[in-house]
Amino acid sequence: MKMDVLLGLQWGDEGKGKIVDVLAPQYEVVARFQGGPNAGHTLEFDGIKHVLHQIPSGIFRAQILNIIGNGVVLDPIILKREIEGLGKFSIDYQKNLVVSKKATIIIPTHKLLDAAYEQSKGDKKIGSTLKGIGPTYQDKIGRSALRIGDILSSDFKEKYQTLVEKHKTTLSFYSYPLDKLDEMEAQFFEAVEFVKTLNLIDSEYVVNDALNSNKKILAEGAQGSLLDVDFGSYPFVTSSSTMTAGACTGLGVAPSKIGEVFGIFKAYCTRVGSGPFPTELFDSTGEAMRKEGNEFGSTTGRPRRCGWLDLPALKYSIMINGVTQLFMMKADVLNIFEEIKICTHYVLPSGENIDKLSFEITDLDVKPIYKTMKGWHCSLAEVRSYEEFPTELKDYVSYLESELNVPIRLVSVGPDRVQTILR
Ligand code: GDP
Ligand code: IMO
Ligand code: MG
Repeated sequence: MKMDVLLGLQWGDEGKGKIVDVLAPQYEVVARFQGGPNAGHTLEFDGIKHVLHQIPSGIFRAQILNIIGNGVVLDPIILKREIEGLGKFSIDYQKNLVVSKKATIIIPTHKLLDAAYEQSKGDKKIGSTLKGIGPTYQDKIGRSALRIGDILSSDFKEKYQTLVEKHKTTLSFYSYPLDKLDEMEAQFFEAVEFVKTLNLIDSEYVVNDALNSNKKILAEGAQGSLLDVDFGSYPFVTSSSTMTAGACTGLGVAPSKIGEVFGIFKAYCTRVGSGPFPTELFDSTGEAMRKEGNEFGSTTGRPRRCGWLDLPALKYSIMINGVTQLFMMKADVLNIFEEIKICTHYVLPSGENIDKLSFEITDLDVKPIYKTMKGWHCSLAEVRSYEEFPTELKDYVSYLESELNVPIRLVSVGPDRVQTILR
């Protein structure tokens, strides 16, 4: 059996949580492989809306084993809060949730460092979620991080203290106040005791044993390909590998064992935080998109920047991920427009046309060139099959398929589980 991977092809918030929840009944295992509480994955069903940050989106399906993999950076405080917040759903965490001992721990000073680095950048700030993601991955790569397995060792407090002292030196360099640290540490150590009661495992064995015994696994990406640390709009990126290859290192699965790659994209684009966004709309059209799509961050509540679909960027993400099936989300948000635009290429300040995300493009003020299509301009709320789609929406889907050379197998027309149309 091979492992399927589901990931966002834009700047995150494409609707990954919704689709993992929809597809989950076809799988036995759902695993997160990177990122941490910077993610906010929203699920809606039976009149309930729930946002998950670190727990995989298969958690509401009783038969599924949910794995927090080694590639994740995990905040014990947020994990405890998340699990407590799910109290009313009577989920058996001992059975349905396991955590890799090799996952990296976000400690309180990582969050202070995140804030200190952002503050020092002034108007060049990344727009980080301030969850400590960057500093924690920095320590992981720098070989000084703490991992979940460490909390079980008798000298965990000493290991913790060594790391904190190092962080304090940096924080004092930035003159960053430490007045909240005591309270944060008290919460942290209480949460660590809680995490010790969870099922902590060597998840690479569990994942590979599952594959060898023909169990179906879905790897759930966080963030999006345009926020990838290698291929995103660096430095305005997150600090993990958000692409298919990240699922291999983040779970311990060989590249030859990757099956389908489901690429999720919105029918338009959004971005939270700073960084280039060629098709961003600063006018009433962008405002209308934000309002119609309720485009406010699931983790931070910040308004999301909105703009038309960007084909060069989407083609790039499809290329680096080896996407085999596309899922188009939030088609219903475009109901309000009489005309819909799609960026087919950019014009550089020199006048040259380009349809590639070259190294230089991040720093250039590129102008998007659009193809305009007629909108469907009607509600999709009750649509339950592809046959019921208005002609203009069918034309939009067909045009994208012809440009992207990958089939669009799913179109989402609303936030609820049932508002999902398979083709
Ligand atoms: P994720 O981070 O990729 O899981 O996405 P988020 O949960 O951060 O953001 C997606 C938002 O869009 C959530 O509020 C979802 O409930 C909502 N959503 C998902 N699919 C659709 C859809 O097809 N139409 C509409 N209108 N909303 C959707
Ligand atoms: P999901 O999984 C959208 C963005 C932040 C910031 C940049 C770096 O819900 O799609 P970080 O906190 O990682 O250092 O922030 O990345 N970002 C996201 N944007 N969705 C996310 O996750 C994001 N996670 C991080 O806004 O621009
Ligand atoms: Mg999100």
